[in-house]
Amino acid sequence: MSSTNAVPYGTLPPASPVALRKPISLPRLNEMRSRGEKITMLTAYDATFAAVADAAGVECILVGDSLGMVCQGLSSTVGVTLDTMRYHIESVTRGIQRVQGTAWIVGDLPFGSYQESKEQAIRSATVLMQAGAHMVKLEGGDWTTEIVNFLVLRGIPVCAHLGLTPQTVHSLGGYRVQGRGDDAAHKMRQEALALQEAGAAMMVLEMVPEPLSTALTLELPTCHTIGIGAGNGTAGQVLVMHDMLGINLGKNPKFVHNFMEGRSSVHEAMRAYVAAVKNGTFPDNAKHAWA
Ligand code: KIV
Repeated sequence: MSSTNAVPYGTLPPASPVALRKPISLPRLNEMRSRGEKITMLTAYDATFAAVADAAGVECILVGDSLGMVCQGLSSTVGVTLDTMRYHIESVTRGIQRVQGTAWIVGDLPFGSYQESKEQAIRSATVLMQAGAHMVKLEGGDWTTEIVNFLVLRGIPVCAHLGLTPQTVHSLGGYRVQGRGDDAAHKMRQEALALQEAGAAMMVLEMVPEPLSTALTLELPTCHTIGIGAGNGTAGQVLVMHDMLGINLGKNPKFVHNFMEGRSSVHEAMRAYVAAVKNGTFPDNAKHAWA
């Protein structure tokens, strides 16, 4: 889209004036981390919600394969294809461009698009980067380190994902807390350090006990931990948009807060989420499955 067609936020008041907003980049995320400012991330899957999230001041938009569940009505993320991810990343990218937005776009590599080989992984990552992603996310520990390093060395920023990894829900036996007990915590720590060493610049920690995710955060200075159901000691937080808007078709996990409650617009709800993450009032450690 040409810049003359760009609509600076339409009727939405941006978090700060457009002229003052600089695109989010890895150096900017590093600066935020070093001054102790929490990083905010939300999922979005289409142009409009991505633009609203951007205007609300969300720094990172995850085009997550959770879209399989919230957009496609699947029972897990396993059925999401690379082509579906490409379609949604293109839509989100156009939404952000349309409002002259600044968000950092993270695209999920779906199940089956990187497990085979590092060559398969780079072909899949290329599709997502060409669709507009600034970073790709992949799930898994030890076995992914070689793939992560291969992508990073070729200029593709990578977000790792440990703890509850929804693409392997059938092996894990359900959506349950991971890293409980000394052995599991030790294994996750080894994997996290190896992923940082491989060059992962970000790491989602999902459904991990707070003491472990906080300890990992302290041990990973160059890899920003983004928690979901992992307590408030991580470098940032992510939520599935439909969960925080209270429109999840299923049951919301215990740690989720409905930010629409008492608010009259999605924009206000997202701004409240950003404010709550930044001032440390979300998440509430008492409301977690591991608490
Ligand atoms: O796909 C997704 O939305 C995710 C988040 C739950 C982190 O991976």
